[in-house]
Amino acid sequence: MRRYENRVVLITGAGQGLGRAMARRFAAESALLALCDVNEAAVKETSAECDGSDVRPSVVNVADAQQVDRWIADTLAAFGRVDVLVNNAGVIRDNRLERMTDDEWDAVIDVSLRGMFHCTRAVFAEMKRQGYGRILSFSSMSWRGNFGQANYAAAKAGVVGLARTIALEGAPHGVTSNAIAPGLIDTPMLASMNAAARAKLAGRVPMGRIGDPADIAEAAAYLCSESAAYVTGVVLDVDGGISIGSTLR
Ligand SMILES: NC(=O)c1ccc[n+]([C@@H]2O[C@H](COP(=O)([O-])OP(=O)(O)OC[C@H]3O[C@@H](n4cnc5c(N)ncnc54)[C@H](O)[C@@H]3O)[C@@H](O)[C@H]2O)c1
Repeated sequence: MRRYENRVVLITGAGQGLGRAMARRFAAESALLALCDVNEAAVKETSAECDGSDVRPSVVNVADAQQVDRWIADTLAAFGRVDVLVNNAGVIRDNRLERMTDDEWDAVIDVSLRGMFHCTRAVFAEMKRQGYGRILSFSSMSWRGNFGQANYAAAKAGVVGLARTIALEGAPHGVTSNAIAPGLIDTPMLASMNAAARAKLAGRVPMGRIGDPADIAEAAAYLCSESAAYVTGVVLDVDGGISIGSTLR
């Protein structure tokens, strides 16, 4: 399929994991790509993997509004439009509530939630002017609450509220906004989790396996396509059934 021919797709946190998998997926459908990450070597490596596509890798910290505004302005100057924004960048700094530092709290909120706000604000007027836009933001199964993740759960619940609000403001202008709440997906972020906690959670996935980044990329490729025109304000669980909740099996 070439659903993304002449579509300009922006992905944050594209240096590894889900961001890289989505970049490759959109490239396979002929998208024009603007990729950003704080890690220059990593985002360049992702670009090299998007063979044959027109790709612009940039070093951008999404928590910094000025860097984001410059990135969007450069992307518009290069490609002339912005069709899809994928707010994917995120970090974890797990700790029990009473031990959580201000730095741990801020780091997580600043990347996932503030970063999403900065990037969406920067593209929103242009998408409305175009009468077309797809905004996809990354929540997590943790948005419902998760032990040791006060900062992350708060940020990811914030992503849901913000995504649904953007959906309302974008609806009259052909701009959709949805979120994906991944379960356990095999990326460097998951590998950095406490091994015992990871193994315990993995044993509770009804489908009996940890997800592949391609599982997420496939869902993203649908939600960001023209075909998903009437889908907005949705939080799509892509988690092998783990959020269903029953542990009896
Ligand atoms: N992997 C999972 O199991 C899982 C589960 C639920 C939600 N998620 C969410 O999916 C998204 C992607 O996760 P992942 O597993 O690929 O993570 P990852 O850690 O493997 O990759 C995240 C990327 O974001 C980049 N990044 C970090 N801070 C940044 C910043 N300030 N500005 C720009 N880029 C920045 C990192 O350099 C890295 O390349 C995140 O929002 C994460 O919270 C992942």
